Amino acid sequence: MQRVFSGIQPTGVPTLGNYLGAIRNWVPMQDDHECIFCVVDLHALTVWQEPKGFGAQTREMAAALLACGLDPQKCTLFVQSHVHAHARLAWIFNCVARLGWLNRMTQFKDKAGKDREAVSSGLYVYPNLMAADIHAYHAVKVPVGDDQKQHLELANDIAQKFNHDYGVEFFPTITPLIQGVAARVMSLRDGTKKMSKSDASDASRINLTDTADEIAQKIRRAKTDPEPLPDHVSGLEDRPEARNLVGILAAITDSMPENVLREHGGKGFGAFKEVLTEALVAHLSPIREEMARLLQDHGALDAALRLGADRAAAIADPIVTEAERIVGFLPR
Ligand code: TRP
Repeated sequence: MQRVFSGIQPTGVPTLGNYLGAIRNWVPMQDDHECIFCVVDLHALTVWQEPKGFGAQTREMAAALLACGLDPQKCTLFVQSHVHAHARLAWIFNCVARLGWLNRMTQFKDKAGKDREAVSSGLYVYPNLMAADIHAYHAVKVPVGDDQKQHLELANDIAQKFNHDYGVEFFPTITPLIQGVAARVMSLRDGTKKMSKSDASDASRINLTDTADEIAQKIRRAKTDPEPLPDHVSGLEDRPEARNLVGILAAITDSMPENVLREHGGKGFGAFKEVLTEALVAHLSPIREEMARLLQDHGALDAALRLGADRAAAIADPIVTEAERIVGFLPR
């Protein structure tokens, strides 16, 4: 079985965007791959995290992943900071990756904005840590959103340079599994912006913890345009909000936008939003309830994460120890 690695940051309550764009695609992979899924708290720390809530947020993300269908019997689920191999290999990769490579990373430019001098140096070397996450397991497949594609190319460049500089064939080439743009969920307030758990406006997103009433209210208030829905997907061009809502209904009902429009084309948004709300509530309520149940019993959840970390470390420690031997560190 091929080894798969992916990670998600515990920077807030997971959204419908995280669910449709990432988590939901991980679930079926558990059956035919050796899957390793990681709540990447080291990555989250690249921007300020309030220490009081950070641990709880990490636990909440783990609960969400389990509630969405990750199964500790079938995959390895753990917290990044619990497995020291990540930080050890990231340091080696900091010394392999070139500044010029990092300077090309568009996500850093976006996140740093005008304030380049004020962001943490962790944010800058974030892609090196991400490469370490994957290569510490010799994982070969990585499911991610298309915004992470450039980081995976960098991870391959790092592996190649390491192998070349040290004259080894140690780190394999990784294949990105880019989640379709169709699964890209946009903000409910602005159809050109990605739905984000860190957006200032809670009305811009559906959280996996939202109640049926909250979902109904957010969908009712979601930005639209005055036209009725088109009969065909070509009519969604230049209508980002309409396209987003149609895309969400298609994704949540395992359908395609063309099928949604065949059924609902010509309807006004009032009627369409009722259909959408009903589908979302039906799909998300069991997840919310399971998440609440898991969070009631920290003890069991934390024990599952410890077990996951033990399993992850058993794979990553020997690989990273070998990388340390290859670079020539004095063995302890
Ligand atoms: N950077 C990824 C994101 O924000 C999260 C991530 C961290 C990740 N390490 C990873 C994804 C390793 C895939 C593999 O979405």
